[in-house]
Amino acid sequence: MDIIKTLEEELKAVKKQMDYLRSLEPSKRAATGAALNTRKKGIEEKLFSAQKEARVQEVNAKLAADKLVDITAPDLGAKRGHLHPITRVQREVEDVFASMGFIIEEGPEIATEFDNFDAVNVPANHPARDMQDTFWLSNGQVLKTHTSALQNALLRRYGPEFKAIFPGRCFRNEAVDASHENTFFQVEGMMVGKDISIANLIYFMQTALAAVFKKDVKVRLRPSYFPFVEPGFEFDAKCIICENGCSVCKKTGWVELGGCGMIHPNVLRMGGVDPTKYQGFAFGFGLPRLTMLKYGINEIRYFNSGNLEFLRSVK
Ligand code: FA5
Repeated sequence: MDIIKTLEEELKAVKKQMDYLRSLEPSKRAATGAALNTRKKGIEEKLFSAQKEARVQEVNAKLAADKLVDITAPDLGAKRGHLHPITRVQREVEDVFASMGFIIEEGPEIATEFDNFDAVNVPANHPARDMQDTFWLSNGQVLKTHTSALQNALLRRYGPEFKAIFPGRCFRNEAVDASHENTFFQVEGMMVGKDISIANLIYFMQTALAAVFKKDVKVRLRPSYFPFVEPGFEFDAKCIICENGCSVCKKTGWVELGGCGMIHPNVLRMGGVDPTKYQGFAFGFGLPRLTMLKYGINEIRYFNSGNLEFLRSVK
């Protein structure tokens, strides 16, 4: 501190001398002025580093006194946060599909009636609209009931040749039970181009499941009906938890992950893609189902329960 005071005094004195410069004869003014300037600069530099040093010492002393950061202190067991299990699985799915050249897309949670239903071949009054009890908004739009609601926009944006997956939150006004929520996540996938077949779909799904489960998973398709695919299938994965049946696979040995099939020509046409030249597959599966299978969870309601003990236990 003393040195700072001394330097401040010196600086004051030099400045005072500079004030007298004007009273000097012009011939002497330049040389004296230059000398004073050099002196002033020197003092200022010394003052600056002395002040900096003093500040460092002050902070160090404060830290030592307050023990604000003691890097030698033992770990007190503070718990770090972590991602929700469904988010983790979603990212794993995104990573593996991205590595296979798929675009990752995301749509809005509110969809027009056209995108959610008409554009995927579910016209007004079609009985398929009853398959998904829907939250309708007063403006005639809907809370997206399935990720298929983005199919039309992507066909228009990227068609006629592309492959994309699009995860998203879906809403259904239905009775909640151990495997059904009113708010849940799906992942949809589409591949459109020439000579695309169900064999491509099986390959990509098997590769993705192997990456998520870290081992090969058997899959099977069962014929089924969805208005937006023809032919259509339910997509099952062999239960990876049990040998002979457990509560996750309901003692069947198989877990239904979602639906899939070859995109219906009407859907391609509505997306501006000529179905006589191009075709493609689409699939949509539930992320909670996948997460439940991966971690052996038999109750979907845990995911939205906010029960941190449960969420922490899913590793
Ligand atoms: C559909 O939603 C179709 N859009 C899937 C599809 C896409 C088929 C493309 C063909 C081509 P579904 O209603 O079956 O189909 O739902 C698909 C999956 O979402 C289900 O197998 C299930 O894993 C999950 N799912 C559906 N409803 C719920 C719910 N209420 N709670 C949790 N998961 C659900």
